[in-house]
Amino acid sequence: MRVIIAGGSGFVGRELTQLLRKKGHEVTIISRHPGPGRITWNDLDTGGLPPCEGAVHLAGENLMNPLRWWNESYKKDLYSSRVDTTRALVRAISSAPTPPRSWILVTGVACYRPSQTALYTEESEWTPFDLLSQLVKDWEGAGRLSDDVAAKTRQVVIRPGAVLGRGGGAMKQMLPPFWLGLGGTLGSGQQPFPWIHVSDLAGIMALSLEAPLPPCPAADGPEVLNAVAPALNTNREFTKALGRALRRPTLLPVPGFAMRALLGAERAVVLMEGQRVVPKRTLDLGYKYQYPDLQAALGEIVGS
Ligand SMILES: NC(=O)c1ccc[n+]([C@@H]2O[C@H](COP(=O)([O-])OP(=O)(O)OC[C@H]3O[C@@H](n4cnc5c(N)ncnc54)[C@H](OP(=O)(O)O)[C@@H]3O)[C@@H](O)[C@H]2O)c1
Repeated sequence: MRVIIAGGSGFVGRELTQLLRKKGHEVTIISRHPGPGRITWNDLDTGGLPPCEGAVHLAGENLMNPLRWWNESYKKDLYSSRVDTTRALVRAISSAPTPPRSWILVTGVACYRPSQTALYTEESEWTPFDLLSQLVKDWEGAGRLSDDVAAKTRQVVIRPGAVLGRGGGAMKQMLPPFWLGLGGTLGSGQQPFPWIHVSDLAGIMALSLEAPLPPCPAADGPEVLNAVAPALNTNREFTKALGRALRRPTLLPVPGFAMRALLGAERAVVLMEGQRVVPKRTLDLGYKYQYPDLQAALGEIVGS
């Protein structure tokens, strides 16, 4: 199978590319930077979508970019790097002489309102309530295919929690303080912490690309898959598990006001609050997690 991955050069994209190539598939990356095995966004606009059986969207300015201050210009970049690039890819899919069999848009669980009690599945109704949930709404809206294209192309929206893995994502910034013995719960630590190991996220995307399922009837919209580990954990459980895996103390809680001052209140929500998300549909489709719990995931990430 030939697969086009927008943002395939990133943390999640590298894992997916490696998995797909191992399975014998061909991958072309859409990037802002030209290079071997890549096309640029400009190439896509002018030359159209290269022939492919699958298209995946993983592009976006990093939400936790430590080099960027939380201000209007950063928020604009977070938005346009996701919504505008999704629109560009949907335009290319829609005008392709033979559209791909699968179209996978990866968004996030920020659409679900943070709560320590509510349990969210893919069927949960939601309406935007803050900046990030509005972003998910506009992003998923931009990814929606018209009915005639959706009749030929299966649309899947994948909503991951924090993606954990070696060499990137959330762990890259969390590991240094924990190694130094300065790790601690964020606020009360009671907030849910939805997470997934990067190998499982790649596995769920590969399953979605390879599944011989018929296109969803357009009226039903895309197939939605929550990409979180089935274990429901709090920030405290994650903090303690990471401390154990590293054999480091985790005695110093980080106060909420410090996180809000550092990250900006709208972004600190991701860490200071959280959602209990269940991957119901993902499990119903038969996906078998490699890392269903924190001990297994953190053992792989920080083990030798
Ligand atoms: N990592 C997580 O914990 C997590 C959790 C939930 C959802 N997600 C979503 O999953 C997707 C992939 O995450 P990731 O961690 O792999 O992301 P990443 O490594 O930060 O970035 C992915 C790619 O996006 C492209 N990109 C960055 N800034 C851009 C901009 N301003 N305009 C256009 N393209 C830009 C880059 O590709 P080029 O430099 O090659 O152009 C980059 O390699 C993202 O959409 C993210 O929102 C991630």
